[in-house]
Amino acid sequence: MKVAVVGATGMVGHVMLKVLEERNFPVTELLPVASEKSVGKTIKFKEKDYKIIGLQDAVNERPDIALFSAGGGTSLDWAPKFAEVGTTVVDNSSAWRMDATKKLVVPEINADILTKEDKIIANPNCSTIQMVMALAPLHKKYKIKRIVVSTYQSVSGTGVKAVKQLENEIAGIEGEMAYFYPISRNAIPHCDVFENNGYTKEEMKLVRETQKILDDRSIAVTATAVRIPTAGGHSEAVNVEFQNDFDLKDVRHLLESTPGVVVQDDLEKNSYPMPILAHDKDEVFVGRIRRDESQPNTLNMWIVSDNLRKGAATNTIQIAEYLVKEELV
Ligand SMILES: NC(=O)c1ccc[n+]([C@@H]2O[C@H](COP(=O)([O-])OP(=O)(O)OC[C@H]3O[C@@H](n4cnc5c(N)ncnc54)[C@H](OP(=O)(O)O)[C@@H]3O)[C@@H](O)[C@H]2O)c1
Repeated sequence: MKVAVVGATGMVGHVMLKVLEERNFPVTELLPVASEKSVGKTIKFKEKDYKIIGLQDAVNERPDIALFSAGGGTSLDWAPKFAEVGTTVVDNSSAWRMDATKKLVVPEINADILTKEDKIIANPNCSTIQMVMALAPLHKKYKIKRIVVSTYQSVSGTGVKAVKQLENEIAGIEGEMAYFYPISRNAIPHCDVFENNGYTKEEMKLVRETQKILDDRSIAVTATAVRIPTAGGHSEAVNVEFQNDFDLKDVRHLLESTPGVVVQDDLEKNSYPMPILAHDKDEVFVGRIRRDESQPNTLNMWIVSDNLRKGAATNTIQIAEYLVKEELV
């Protein structure tokens, strides 16, 4: 496969290269792409140096697959140009996720909706991916009525600039700010921009993308997304009301037998998911599984995953692996 990685110098792009290498994705030719300021610089992939090229040069190369993580504007402008020359684009930005003509895919849940005709495929938002990974098997059995989710999101979710802001603050260095406020020793209830309804775009992604991936617009979702000074993964407190009553043992069993989900829930051993444990792992970790005693048919869970891996790079590459396996590219 001739593979373009668009945004190869970014947070997600770096992890994509690492995951492509780790999973031994059949890359016969790599085309690392970034903005004009990076063109000509080199990056390493499988012990070899590669020169970064610009977007038009990459289109001219007609890659089989292009993995995009270079922001929504770049995806809107360039994904169609790649698609036109026959490339299949898997896009990490929010540009195409809610486009009715584009598929929004978490391979463990709905890869089977993909066809050869899908030339631009959307990778969901990081906080959505980890939540639906745990909810999909439960929805199948008990039918979700309503989700109340609060997120505790890592600075790595904002990109290179935000990680630098946190590092600078810890080191006492003045530097460029990715957020309006200091993030060290803080919690900022503001992820992405505000929409007209008072929610942030990140919060509304959790609503809309969950309904689209689980293919059920009747699921009610309300979210509060908060940025916290962690670097290795997003955490979520999730309260789920089902239409049908559940058995806690069965919930645990369903989660334990879901590929890509790991139950970490042993209170006697103080075992529960945390970003420092999830960092650099591909799985979604679920713990603090308990009945909401204030309301029938309702469950509380704590879900943690590395936003740069399953929340972005790993999910994208799993989609690409599926395309190769099913001969859709
Ligand atoms: N971080 C996460 O957890 C996460 C999760 C899911 C999805 N995403 C999405 O993935 C995308 C990238 O996020 P990130 O965190 O990796 O950001 P980042 O660290 O800021 O990296 C951005 C990348 O995009 C490239 N880029 C920017 N403008 C470009 C242009 N006009 N043409 C070509 N390349 C351009 C940058 O190249 P230069 O180095 O040359 O500027 C860099 O490689 C965003 O759309 C984000 O929403 C991020």
